[in-house]
Amino acid sequence: MAQLWGGRFTKQIDELAWNFNASVSFDKRLLDQDIEGSIAHVTMLAKQEIITREEKESIISGLHSIKKDVEDGTLQITGEYEDVHSFIEANLISRIGDAGKKMHTGRSRNDQVALDMRLYTRQQVKETADCLYDMLQTLSAIMKDNLHTYMPGFTHLQKAQPVTLAHHFGAYFEMFKRDSLRMHDIYERMNYCPLGAGALAGTTYPLDREYTAQLLAFTGPTLNSMDSVSDRDYLIEYLAALSTVMMHLSRFSEEVIIWNSNEYRFVEIDDAYSTGSSIMPQKKNPDIAELVRGKTGRVYGDLMSLLTTMKGIPLAYDKDMQEDKEAAFDAIDTVQHCLTLFTDMIRTMKFNREIMEKSAMRGFTNATDAADYLVVKGVPFRDAHGIIGRIVLHCIEKGCSIDELSISELRQFAPQFEEDVYDAISLKTCVEKRLTVGAPGSAAMDKVIRMNEAFLKDFWTRK
Ligand code: ARG
Repeated sequence: MAQLWGGRFTKQIDELAWNFNASVSFDKRLLDQDIEGSIAHVTMLAKQEIITREEKESIISGLHSIKKDVEDGTLQITGEYEDVHSFIEANLISRIGDAGKKMHTGRSRNDQVALDMRLYTRQQVKETADCLYDMLQTLSAIMKDNLHTYMPGFTHLQKAQPVTLAHHFGAYFEMFKRDSLRMHDIYERMNYCPLGAGALAGTTYPLDREYTAQLLAFTGPTLNSMDSVSDRDYLIEYLAALSTVMMHLSRFSEEVIIWNSNEYRFVEIDDAYSTGSSIMPQKKNPDIAELVRGKTGRVYGDLMSLLTTMKGIPLAYDKDMQEDKEAAFDAIDTVQHCLTLFTDMIRTMKFNREIMEKSAMRGFTNATDAADYLVVKGVPFRDAHGIIGRIVLHCIEKGCSIDELSISELRQFAPQFEEDVYDAISLKTCVEKRLTVGAPGSAAMDKVIRMNEAFLKDFWTRK
């Protein structure tokens, strides 16, 4: 046990208690951030003449050598240390001697860990946005290829009105676009540096907090030292945004699973993203989509766990907060894996365009348009609705679609029907005449796709 404290103790800590308290098994992930933060801290200490230039340089080269040795595998982060901070400090002192003992001047592990976690999260927020960017690029490419791929749009999972595949995927484009903008907002709001807050009440050393904030590319220092060490709002916001990403991915998964089913066959998931059954030789299962849907629960759980951990903690730092890490790491890893795999799965998925189109032709998806046709011919909408309803019932009994009825059959329901009805209620017309902003008509979709492209060109992580 190599701990940073001990002066006021007369007895060794119990072994189980030590293990229970330790965080090194998971916070070793913060090694790079801890070193980056310490370099900024000692650079500031030297500028403020709290330590000498030589001490600063010796600390920095010691930190670099620790990082290198861990990367090379010649130095292992073991359970002998309480946390990553102790691991680094103990190793630094054994490498450079007394100068190493000065690194922690004017700092506490409370502001240190607050900084590490912020540096790590800030990077991950960007990486999540990058995964979303790949998803958006993939969706945009599929949309461009499928402006005229007609398919049924659903409400209540019942065929409703015809749309296109471009339009359906366009809905997901909007969802993931908002997700990416949430990442941007979180980044901006969290980008303040807690270093210098000390344990909770700042320090009497003349630290230059603006300077450390600037060295670490933060917008500025945080403005209340008690809040600085106890704020985990940014993680909660991030996990809430990640939960929303998963909710979107889960809905998308559900649709892919339905579309890939033997009954629908709208799509075929590539072999590379499917699995077989140990007993049923004919099976090709959409396990990736199902797992993405399933993992949504675990990300929601991570958010709930952090919210619950934080709800009763008095100011300022309490050890409960150490529990933020595993939940956050799990949510971050899960969402990034899910986004990456899901994007690859839809990129390689085959779309059965004829089956989609046939499905749109069956199921009376043009019933609204048939009613609108009668409206144009002077029938009030409510009456037209009733007439088409009766026609649909007739068609169900006959086993045909509206456009398969002859003009004389149609006229038995309403004398206003003329030859032009067939064109008016064709699948193509039903879709292409829907041209309001956001509607599926290809001319309307084309404008949206151009706006999407401008959005992607100006994407916030790529500026
Ligand atoms: N491992 C701790 C955490 O993750 C580091 C901060 C320890 N601070 C303390 N006062 N014990 O929160």
